[in-house]
Amino acid sequence: MPTPDEARSPASRVRRFWDSSVGKKVVMAVTGIIGIGFVLGHMAGNLQMFKGAGAAQAMHDYAVLLRSTGGLLYVMRGILVGAIVLHVTAALQLTARNRAARPVPYAKRTPQVSTLASRTMRYGGVLLMAFIVFHIADMTLGIGVPGFRHLDPYNNLRNGFTRWWAVLFYVLAMLSLGFHLFHGAWASLRTLGARRPSAAPLHRNMAVAIAVVTAAGLVAVPIAAVLGLFRDDMPVSEAMSTARAGAPGITPAGAAAIGTASAAASVPRA
Ligand code: HEM
Repeated sequence: MPTPDEARSPASRVRRFWDSSVGKKVVMAVTGIIGIGFVLGHMAGNLQMFKGAGAAQAMHDYAVLLRSTGGLLYVMRGILVGAIVLHVTAALQLTARNRAARPVPYAKRTPQVSTLASRTMRYGGVLLMAFIVFHIADMTLGIGVPGFRHLDPYNNLRNGFTRWWAVLFYVLAMLSLGFHLFHGAWASLRTLGARRPSAAPLHRNMAVAIAVVTAAGLVAVPIAAVLGLFRDDMPVSEAMSTARAGAPGITPAGAAAIGTASAAASVPRA
């Protein structure tokens, strides 16, 4: 038995919060919102692919800029990984708790508010985890991407989406993400009390908007790649971007002398 002082300690409060089902739902809601924020920002960055002439340079500069923020990139990566771990752990523990509470399933169950999205949250979650692992191996490490060059996301995406199975996987994963966000965004807003119970619970305009904008914005890139819409063949110049970012490994003068995408290979990995 903890003493009254121990029970009031911050560590003990955090423990009790995490142990409660409501606490786990709040953790899922907050970490889910962090995930939505990341995905929206990532989508906005990817949409630079549609800039036309200069798009390859814009994508390259953006990649360099992200890596020029000192420790900030690592802080962001840490927050994202932490959010994913907490989100998945809370989801698994809540599922196990629900199963333990009802070992024998309902003979007949008629959910009050159930959509395809809400019924497929677990499968969608598993697919998204598989996607994230594949995606980092694919677009960050370049495993299996034809002609992959570090810090050249425009050409990496264009080359990566010459593989039909990769296009299919990205499209399916983004549709699944749309479903996951539709139910997840709605459930998060309800958990955090930002949306009150409604007389028409299937009318979830804000959740629909978040899901459709995110999935459409992301899926546009592989689709446009297949349609051959990315035609910017301008060589990517290191001169401006690395000088601005102060990236080590290449001097502005040296970069200006090289001045092509091949210089990207000489920039150390972040
Ligand atoms: C069609 C959809 C997507 C495209 C075209 C895309 C594109 C990219 C590209 C090109 C990179 C490498 C950027 C660089 O090296 O500078 C990247 C990195 C990454 N993407 Fe995506 N992405 C997509 C969807 C997603 C989704 C849905 C998630 C998460 C749920 C995600 C998470 C990440 C992460 C975590 C990284 C690594 C970032 C880092 O290095 O810290 N991406 N993505």
